[in-house]
Amino acid sequence: MINALGRPQHVLLLGGTSDIARAAARAWARESEGLRVTLAARPGGGRDAAVAELEALGARVAVLDFDAEDTAGHPELVRRAAAERDVDVAVVAFGVLGDEEQAWQDHDSAVEHARVNYVGAVSVGVPLAELVRRQGHGVIVALSSVAGERARRSNFVYGSTKAGMDAFYVGLGLALRGTGAHVVVVRPGHVRTKMTAGRADAPLATDPEVVAAAIVDGVARRRDIVWVPGAMRGVMSAIRHLPRPVFRRLPL
Ligand SMILES: NC(=O)c1ccc[n+]([C@@H]2O[C@H](COP(=O)([O-])OP(=O)(O)OC[C@H]3O[C@@H](n4cnc5c(N)ncnc54)[C@H](OP(=O)(O)O)[C@@H]3O)[C@@H](O)[C@H]2O)c1
Repeated sequence: MINALGRPQHVLLLGGTSDIARAAARAWARESEGLRVTLAARPGGGRDAAVAELEALGARVAVLDFDAEDTAGHPELVRRAAAERDVDVAVVAFGVLGDEEQAWQDHDSAVEHARVNYVGAVSVGVPLAELVRRQGHGVIVALSSVAGERARRSNFVYGSTKAGMDAFYVGLGLALRGTGAHVVVVRPGHVRTKMTAGRADAPLATDPEVVAAAIVDGVARRRDIVWVPGAMRGVMSAIRHLPRPVFRRLPL
C-alpha cells in the first residue's frame, strides 16, 4: 500500500529502461527503504544497468521480459507482476520517437509508433485497471506528452499516438473513480533523455529528475494531470486555442 506520506512499497515499471521511469524509481527508492521494483523491459544492457542502479539504492528488483508490441502477453505479465504482492504504482513509460519526417512517409515507422505508443499503452492499461480495481488501491502513472495536446506539423505521428493514449488514460481515471484506484496522466514537454539525444532543446526543456519529482508528487497528492514543467499548461492552452491560420504559420 502507499503509506501516509504517499510513498509506495512496490512499483511496476513498464518500459523500465526509460530514463524518466528510472529517475522516478530512484526517487522512490531513496525515500522508501526496501522498495520493491518490478522492472518490465526488453532484455539488454540498458535493463541490466537499470537493475544495478536501483539495487545500489537498496531496492529489491525483479525483472520481467516485456515487449510493448506483444499485446497477447500483457495480461499475463501484469498478473505475474502482482503475483506476490500488490502493485502500489504502475508506470506506463515505454514509447518511441523516431525521425518525424520518416514517421509519416514510411509505413513501418508509422505503424511502430502506433503499435508501441497507443496500442501497447491501451493493451497494458486494461489489465492494469483490472488489477488496481481488484486490489482496491493502486496508482497508474501514464507518461503522455504535450505533443498530444494539438497535433503539430513537426511531429504529428508521435503526437497523434500520445493524444490517443492520453485520452485513454484520462478516461480510465474517470472510470476508476470510487474504486480506491487512481490514474495520473503526466504531460512533459521536451525532456533530455535518450529519446531526445542529439536534438536541440525545445523551449522549457527539462531533465528526467524534474519529471520524476513531479511524478512522485503527483502520486502522493493523487493528481489527475501533471504538466512538466508546470508552465507548460498555460503554453499548451494558448497553442491549443490559436486560430488555425495563425497556428499553421508557426514553426512548430
Ligand atoms: N523525452 C521526452 O522529451 C519526452 C517528453 C514527453 C513524453 N515522453 C514520454 O515519456 C516516456 C519515457 O520516455 P523517455 O524520455 O524516458 O525515453 P527513453 O529513455 O527512450 O525511454 C523509452 C523506453 O521505451 C522502451 N521501448 C520502446 N519500444 C519498446 C517496446 N516495443 N517494448 C518495450 N519497451 C519499449 C525503450 O526500451 P529499450 O531500452 O528496450 O529500447 C526505452 O527505454 C515515453 O512514453 C515518451 O514518449 C518523453
